[in-house]
Amino acid sequence: MDTQVRHPMLVPTRHDELSRQQFVHNLRLCLAADVLPGARRVYERRVRPAFRRDHQRDPKDRHEVRKAMDRDPYYRLYCATQRASQEMMWDSVIDSVERENPTLQQRAKDLKTSGKGSVRIPRDFKQPAYHRAADIHLQPGGYHLDHGSNDLASGAIYDRSVFLYAIGGLGDYNDDLGRTLVDYYRAKFPKKTPHRILDMGCAVGHSTLPWVEAFPGAEVHGIDCGAGMVRYALARAQGLGRVAHFSQQNAEKTSFRDGHFDLVVSHIMLHETSRTAFDRIMRETFRLLAPGGVMLHMDLPRDHGMKPYDSFLMDWEAYHNNETFMVVCRDLDWKAAAVRGGFEPARTKVDGSLTHAAMEMIKAGQTPPYAIKFPILVGRK
Ligand SMILES: C[S@@+](CC[C@H](N)C(=O)[O-])C[C@H]1O[C@@H](n2cnc3c(N)ncnc32)[C@H](O)[C@@H]1O
Repeated sequence: MDTQVRHPMLVPTRHDELSRQQFVHNLRLCLAADVLPGARRVYERRVRPAFRRDHQRDPKDRHEVRKAMDRDPYYRLYCATQRASQEMMWDSVIDSVERENPTLQQRAKDLKTSGKGSVRIPRDFKQPAYHRAADIHLQPGGYHLDHGSNDLASGAIYDRSVFLYAIGGLGDYNDDLGRTLVDYYRAKFPKKTPHRILDMGCAVGHSTLPWVEAFPGAEVHGIDCGAGMVRYALARAQGLGRVAHFSQQNAEKTSFRDGHFDLVVSHIMLHETSRTAFDRIMRETFRLLAPGGVMLHMDLPRDHGMKPYDSFLMDWEAYHNNETFMVVCRDLDWKAAAVRGGFEPARTKVDGSLTHAAMEMIKAGQTPPYAIKFPILVGRK
């Protein structure tokens, strides 16, 4: 199962730890491939007919589907087991990181001495309330767990855990979303070559490095609210021989000057911000772009145009995995928010793309396990 590419910063695991991680991986695979499809059958055969009997109509939206499904024992068992798998996932990685933390910190120092790129952590950074409110995805301590100036544990935990979280579906470098957006940008803007790129909400740089690789002449920056995330991001990039600049910054208001970037991107960050933060990020993106610049914010599917049951499935993380703000983002009119931020309506749209992995499978004549399009908010200044 384990194809995650080993790099100098990836936390080493002992035999028993790896075995626990493999258990989590297989449990999540079983839940996704075998148990969850059964919930759809339960809905069609049991829950929807009962709802119809009571209301003389079908559930009209994802919220009505959820309320009805929440009472069903099969679905409740799925939810409880999936949540337990999420908790086990963090537990299975945290032990290794706690043991290896001093070694990882030393390795990061050594890489910093020999490598290029930079990391900047301001003294007075204030975590936004939507991060302090709950540990997103149940990651203990959240993205912003920080034990001091060299601490990179949150990043080390995240790097390994996300591979298990996605059951390897984001690729061997967890970078499929970045590669997908790079392909999208190249296809839609074939004449553009960006010189300065900003990746907002970069976490440990999984989606940042595809931009470094695609545009070797560009200066690439990644910002994130988590100090441990960006410290680790630099060390990971250096360990992989890539050059990028990271800093702890809130995407709502950054320290970069007006018009500094010709491309601003994000990958699954927006759904973790609040309603007001969303608007502020739009304004900030607009401010940061040079004339002719492009924004591409890629995120999880909105409610828009989805069938109620399919849309209900996308809400699982919101109600069971501390993705509290996701519900808001899924209902928001993204284009209207971008226009409020300064973008012209005629130069703004919500497009979408299958992931790189799904497209590769379709090209090879195979059927991808999931073929949802990730929406992309596109704006040109
Ligand atoms: C789901 S992770 C995605 C990470 C990364 N973009 C990727 O594709 O692997 C979302 C990240 O966005 C960051 N984030 C959320 N709100 C932010 C904000 N207002 N400013 C900067 N980063 C933010 C979180 O700290 C987290 O690391």
